Amino acid sequence: MTDTVTGARGTTQTLPPRAYFDADWFEREQLELFGRTWHYAGTADDYAAPGAYRSIQAGRHPLVVVRGHDGELRAFHNVCRHRGTAVLPGSGRVERHIVCPYHNWRYGLDGCLLAVTQRKEVDPGLDRSELGLHPAAAAVWRGLVFVHPDPEPEPLTDWLADLPDRMAPYDPEQLAEVGAARQYHLKCNWKVFMENALDNYHLGYVHKDTLVGYDHKRQEQYRCGERHWYFYEPPLEPGRLPPMDAGSGLKPIAQDPHWYGSSFGLIFPNLFVLTSATWWSSIQVIPTGPETTTLELRARFLPGQTGRIALGALREAASGLVQRVLAQGILRRQPAYDLVEEDVFCCEAVQVGIKSPRFSVGPLAYRLEGGIQTFQRNVLDYVPLEG
Ligand code: FES
Ligand SMILES: [Fe+2]
Repeated sequence: MTDTVTGARGTTQTLPPRAYFDADWFEREQLELFGRTWHYAGTADDYAAPGAYRSIQAGRHPLVVVRGHDGELRAFHNVCRHRGTAVLPGSGRVERHIVCPYHNWRYGLDGCLLAVTQRKEVDPGLDRSELGLHPAAAAVWRGLVFVHPDPEPEPLTDWLADLPDRMAPYDPEQLAEVGAARQYHLKCNWKVFMENALDNYHLGYVHKDTLVGYDHKRQEQYRCGERHWYFYEPPLEPGRLPPMDAGSGLKPIAQDPHWYGSSFGLIFPNLFVLTSATWWSSIQVIPTGPETTTLELRARFLPGQTGRIALGALREAASGLVQRVLAQGILRRQPAYDLVEEDVFCCEAVQVGIKSPRFSVGPLAYRLEGGIQTFQRNVLDYVPLEG
């Protein structure tokens, strides 16, 4: 492994166990962490037409991103200035205006309050210019849309630091999304999944039959700025597609064989952008409660491919490979699940043990689990230990 991250032996976990199940801690995270960071809000394709919108929950802040008639993407707090109704629930497209579904106050796509129904009944002297939707911030990076509850946050490019320089040079807008987003509902705290994804120690054990074809011994990892993390491992045979990609029938996205490896960028706090030679995907890790988490997986491929290309292609490719290897007698067991499900199994098992009064973390693998320490320090920057 390339030791690009300084760690020290003996460093250990810094988050207390209650951070993984306590309702008060969860509430503080919602307010103080997820209310103060950039959030993934889908791809630019989700907002192709004027009036296209998506509502996003940023911790306790309901937000909405909408494309204006002038082509601009804007973000607002999704909170009607009358009695607080989410003016645009879910996602979809409005024709001309935003109409609150409760008492039909009408807003422009620029957030201005245009009309109040029965205005004389409400307040004949009402000043509409005072009652526009509260602004939030929207920004786009490589076709990925981000939203922030603060209308004037740290610019997204500053926030991302040098992560973009590290990552595979793919532009998701040049790739084609296939199938609907796939969701996984986990019985664990969101940080348990984050830490699992940052844990390179388990790759050769948990994924020994599924994550084949990559050289775990030549991993590279980097902290990007203060907050983000980047991971890459090359194929076992340099310059050759790993079997999972070669066997998928998918054409490589990568022009440069360097990118035949597998990579991910963690955009703090909860978005992973993963790549292989033939696909690009995002995993958003959405906290739904102190001990529940939803993963949303979206995948993109080179456009114009047919046949085996589907959101399940990765899984099919993996299981197809597994079948072949199984036939050659190399595998010891038939895997029961896919890569993500292998991780889900471990995360839910951690969630059980971490609540034990006997639990205290053992020594960490200081390089292979270095990302966990950085992640935990970042959480503590937003949610400091009290007292
Ligand atoms: S809550 Fe929106 S119009 Fe009444
Ligand atoms: Fe894993």
